[in-house]
Amino acid sequence: MSIKLNEKFLEGFVGAHEIEYMKPFAEVAFGLLDKGVGQGNDFHGWYTLPEDYDKEEFARIKVAAEKIKKSSDVLVVIGIGGSYLGARAAIEFVKSPLYNNLKKDTPDIYFAGNNISTTALTELLSICEGRDISVNVISKSGTTTEPAIAFRVFKSLLVKKYGEGGAKERIFVTTDKARGTLKKFSDEAGYETFVVPDNVGGRYSVLTAVGLLPIACAGVDIDALMQGAADAKRDYSTADLDKNTALRYAVIRNILVRKGKNSEILVGYEPYMLMLNEWWKQLYGESSGKDGKGIFPNSVIFSTDLHSLGQYIQAGQRNLFETVISVENSGAEFTIPEDPANVDGLNFISGKSLDYVNKTAMLATLIAHNDGGVPNVLLELSDRGAHSLGYLFYFFELACAMSGYLLGVNPFDQPGVEAYKKNMFALLGKPGYEDMKSALEKRISDK
Ligand code: PA5
Repeated sequence: MSIKLNEKFLEGFVGAHEIEYMKPFAEVAFGLLDKGVGQGNDFHGWYTLPEDYDKEEFARIKVAAEKIKKSSDVLVVIGIGGSYLGARAAIEFVKSPLYNNLKKDTPDIYFAGNNISTTALTELLSICEGRDISVNVISKSGTTTEPAIAFRVFKSLLVKKYGEGGAKERIFVTTDKARGTLKKFSDEAGYETFVVPDNVGGRYSVLTAVGLLPIACAGVDIDALMQGAADAKRDYSTADLDKNTALRYAVIRNILVRKGKNSEILVGYEPYMLMLNEWWKQLYGESSGKDGKGIFPNSVIFSTDLHSLGQYIQAGQRNLFETVISVENSGAEFTIPEDPANVDGLNFISGKSLDYVNKTAMLATLIAHNDGGVPNVLLELSDRGAHSLGYLFYFFELACAMSGYLLGVNPFDQPGVEAYKKNMFALLGKPGYEDMKSALEKRISDK
């Protein structure tokens, strides 16, 4: 098993009998997903994806990645939310958060269209100056404002730099199979397109072309990634809580939220987990935060954030629980040097590995936070390779969907995301929003 769920730091917070009592509910939640009869079942495509993904497209992704690697110094990945977080998380997790600064034979990868910041866009344009660029624009709907603006800019840059014909060889579009405007436009322009399957929502799409093309461009083994997810699918094909760790995690979350622990902190002890945390927050936030319910997902990287949020977690409001991801082997070794002067008094750890100190910090924190009244779920992962990450992605997706069913929400819609968009369109003067515009302007001037 690639993920071990260690419950040692739940003692005193979640009793064995409570998990036992949840078994019938867990079976129902699992069945709703496995039999495809739960709310939002038209978005269950990710569930069988590790087995039935489009192999022809998968081969095309690899070919496109090779083409991009050969022809480009920079790949600009344009997308927002589920259309970029998974790829960014994977590249940072498997390669490095400093990926662009590494010596490598793959292009630098920058993410655009995930904000409306003038400085972010102009800085990236300046970074791209004089360098060979390819673009992968990712938008299921094809109409999301942030990536659409960035795509306008980079499309015109590529056309100016390489001509229409040259740009065509450098623009790769990942979008809806048939419907969206981006698909029609791309076919007309002759861009190579990849599919966001109809039955896979943005935040569950990392193992489709949405995530796979940028991930492959970074030199991450996407076969291993998919195999990891397939192994998780196989391991978690039962409602037995002693075997299905993802379901057990969902059950534990559900027990905790019923006790008022309505804020979950995903904890990593490695900076390469920062974007994984961001991916997870979107997945869990959009899937469960509705109908006045949900667990608020937030995240930290320790020990960094022990020096910022540590105080609150230790002694602030007691509505928290933590889910800690511990990676056994991060693939690097460093020994703490001896210092003859011993000015810092740390010679008692000289000769020890830095990872040993990091793991000790984790154990010390788990105990301290337990003592402060914070339950901790500990997820133990063997390594940070592509296989393990594929397994982890699937684990979290599965647990998220089943958590939603246990909570009594539809884990696959996100109606709340529309509210700001409508207001923004109205205020910007989009045709059709005239009445709303004057009402909003009144509210703003009244304030
Ligand atoms: O999970 C989701 O559905 C969202 O985060 C979307 O991925 C995000 O809003 C981007 O949408 P689109 O891919 O249509 O541009």
